[in-house]
Order: sequence, then C-alpha cells, then structure tokens
Amino acid sequence: MAKWVRLCGLSEAPAAGQVAEAEVEGVAVCLANVNGELSALDNFCPHRQGPLGQGWLEGDAVVCPWHSWTFNVKTGLAEYPVHERVDVFPLRVEGDHVLVDIE
Ligand code: FES
Repeated sequence: MAKWVRLCGLSEAPAAGQVAEAEVEGVAVCLANVNGELSALDNFCPHRQGPLGQGWLEGDAVVCPWHSWTFNVKTGLAEYPVHERVDVFPLRVEGDHVLVDIE
C-alpha cells in the first residue's frame, strides 16, 4: 500500500543538475534533479553505504561520492557495476510540496 509523505518543499529541492540528501520518517533519500525532473532514491549506496545525495550527476545517473558506483535516477539500476541497484521511490509534486511514497 502506498504511503505518500512530504519530503520537502519544492523550493528546497536541488536545482537542475544537482543532488541533495533529505530524510523523512527515518528514511534517507537522495533527491536528484535531472533537467528539472525530480527523482528520489535510497540514499545509501549498496557498496559500502556511501551517501548518494552527497555525490553528483553524470547525465541521468547519480555517482556515489565514495567509490564512483553509478545509478540511473529513474530505474535505480547501476550503470557501474552492472547487476547492482538501489530502490527508487515514487515521487510527485503537489503545489510547493515534494511527496514520496516510502512504502
Ligand atoms: S560506497 Fe558507494 S561506491 Fe563504495
């Protein structure tokens, strides 16, 4: 069952080409903005729990700041190394609110 919660205000979300960390109800989220479109991923890299929200974007992928594993912001699938992935949370914007489904 979906559990939509407010992650942050739209004005607090990262600008295009940026990522940021956010947290809601104990869930750490990497919020990414690719060409004005927001995506929300699990903030913790499956390699050694590096904080993806402190990384950077290359195209439509976020690069982990610790050892450069790279994950597509829409699918969560790793571009490097293949076969790895992170969870992607459904996201929607309502007015000035960025909502994510953390179920
Ligand atoms: S912790 Fe992310 S690549 Fe190592």
